[in-house]
This record gives sequence, C-alpha cells and structure tokens, in this order.
Amino acid sequence: LDNGLMRTPPMGWMSWGRFRCNTDCRNDPKNCISEALFVDMADRLVEDGWLKLGYKYLIIDDCWSFMSRDNKGRLMPDPIRFPNGIHKLAHYAHDRKLKLGIHANMGKQTCAGYPGTMLDQIETDAQTFADWEVDMLKFDGCYSNVNEQQKGFPLMSKALNATGRPIAYSCSWPMYRGGLPPSVNYSFLGEICNLWRNYDDIEDSWESVMRIVDWFFQNQADLQSVSGPGHWNDPDMLIIGNFGLNMEQSQAQMALWAIMAAPLIMSNDLRTLTGEARSILQNKAVIAINQDPLGIQGRRILQDEGHIEVFWRPLSKSASALVFLSRRTDMPYRYHSTLSLLNYTSSSYTAYDVFKDETVSLPSVNTHFTITINPSGVVMWYVYPDKSFEAKCT
Ligand code: DGJ
Repeated sequence: LDNGLMRTPPMGWMSWGRFRCNTDCRNDPKNCISEALFVDMADRLVEDGWLKLGYKYLIIDDCWSFMSRDNKGRLMPDPIRFPNGIHKLAHYAHDRKLKLGIHANMGKQTCAGYPGTMLDQIETDAQTFADWEVDMLKFDGCYSNVNEQQKGFPLMSKALNATGRPIAYSCSWPMYRGGLPPSVNYSFLGEICNLWRNYDDIEDSWESVMRIVDWFFQNQADLQSVSGPGHWNDPDMLIIGNFGLNMEQSQAQMALWAIMAAPLIMSNDLRTLTGEARSILQNKAVIAINQDPLGIQGRRILQDEGHIEVFWRPLSKSASALVFLSRRTDMPYRYHSTLSLLNYTSSSYTAYDVFKDETVSLPSVNTHFTITINPSGVVMWYVYPDKSFEAKCT
C-alpha cells in the first residue's frame, strides 16, 4: 500500500503470541490484556534499547474491547482493563516515540469472541481508530465469509485512508483464503495493505516455526515477488524469549525472518527476557539485513541430502545474506561448500558471521570453506564484495 508507511518491514511488539486472551486481571494482574501490560511493554521498548534499534510498534491484539459497542455504535475498550482508554494509551506511546497498533476483525466477532466489524461498521471503526490516534490496524478475518472479506478488506483500506490519518494496514485476508493464488490476488493486496498474514498462527514451538518456514519457502515462487517496500508477507510473530525455542532455534527464527524480509514483531515478555534472547533480538547485523532498503525477500536455494538448507537474500551495495540451516538432530555438522556452488560469480568476498561476530575471507568464489552448524541451528553470513578486488577489475 503506497501510503508512505512501512517502507522496510515493521518492527515492534504484539500481545497475542505470549499473552493471548488472558483477561483475568484479578488473579493475574501482571499478565492480563490491560493498559498496565502495554504501559509496561512501552517502558521496556524505550528503556531497554528496543526503540533505538527500530522496534517501534506497540500492538494490542484481540481481547481489548468491551463485550458490546457504545450507544453510538462505536467499539470501546473494556473499562476495567483499560481505565484510561485507548486514546490515552496512544498518547503514552507517542510521547515516547512509539507507534500504537490495534486489532479488529472483519466479521461478526473476533476469533476470541469480542465484537467484530461488520461491513456497515467499517467506516465507524476506522474513524474511531483515527480519533484515538492509532497508527496501525491489524484486521483479522474470523467469522466472515468469502464475499464479506472480498468487500470488507478493501473497504477498510479506503476508510482508513479517508480518515486522513496515516494508519498502517495489516490484512489477515490471505490466511483465511488458503494463502495462495488464484484464491489470493497478491498484486491487489499489495495495493490495499501494508502487510498481510499468509499462513497459520505461530505457536510457541520449533515445530511451528519449521512448519511456517516450510510453507513460505515451498511457495516462494508465488510469494517472493509480491513482497517489497510498503507491502510485506507476514509469517507471524517472533517467539524468541518464550518457552518453545532453545538458543540455536531462536537464532534460526531471527535469521530466517531476516531472509524473508518479514516483520520483526516480537511477542514475549520484555520484562523477564534473558540476556541471550535479548542479544539475538537486538543483533544489529541481523536487523540491518532484515531492514535492507531494497526490501527483496530471499529464497531457499538449496536442500542438501545432509539435511542442510541454504537460504539467500540479495541486499543493497551488492551484498547478500546467506543462512545455512541444519535440520539434523544428531550433532554439529561440518558443512563444506564454495560460493560458486551457491551461484555467486566472479568476485572476492568477505563473509561476516553475524552471530559469531567474525569475518571469513573468501578470495575467490572457488575458495572452499567449512562451517559448523549445530542441530536446529543456523550460521548466518552477511556477504560483501571486497572493494579492492572491484577496484583492480575496473
Ligand atoms: C487470529 C490471528 O491470526 C492471531 O494472530 C490473533 O490475532 C488471533 N486471531 C486473535 O484472536
């Protein structure tokens, strides 16, 4: 969507993955969906260095609203859990240079059973979000049929635009239509949405991460070209820092999301994150790869019989990123290759290992290298041509 927003994949934090629809503030006040939770996360985003790195969206997922609309037919937040309302929360975010996102649902009710947005309520809801100074809308699609979605998702895009407030627009439409052409018209989506969920929800497990990765790369022929500045595929939240991934797997999720030019939207508890999880999520080189201005989504280029897979993404300044993923479950695997085997031609390169913080010199594309990839782990390289080599040749 050409509204000037999200020219690189959005970064931030969202409640769903970690906090779901916990509304039990009486017994679990620290973890329930409430103003207090978002204020805590806003503080963490700002004070713990996240915002400086680009994590600026604070996104309220499902279960924020009251069970019914107000007497003017407008959505309203649960008055006990959000005593000061969403507008105040937006101010709290804006005062700290964060952006506030919110969840709504095309259909009778949200997936968790809160009031949905029917076709004749779209304009009202768009205006309500604009009045609250919300900066992003995640528009979900539970309890609506093909026709309602066909009308509703484009209509919301128009309605948001008509408010005059720049509001980034995330559409879950494709995920409710199987995620693939011809049922999904991605060139049209690119015109009306800034990002979209293509596939199933992520769960807190490595199995879930691998299912998502497999789906996206099996379908890369259909998906790679539809993504770019202002219009991104969204394989769902980063679950790093929760319970399902070990450190190798956490690096793998981060690396593969960077290859996919995916939104880096965390869903974890920023108040209790371990140092290791934090260092992965705050890795500047991986973030820079994710945020590369060309915004070209990467591809899987090789599946080796040794259960090693290689992923590649072209980057600006003639650089590129490579990820070597081990799907083995036995032991650290020593993988031998050359850049020419990975389709690189004629240059001298340096590879920067983003997690080890080391460089490897590759004077020719035929230089043999060996890397050690741990089970369910990755090695990620930022590969750039050596300037001296270029100078010699020109
Ligand atoms: C389905 C979406 O895909 C999830 O990300 C989350 O928003 C839930 N709905 C909320 O009910």
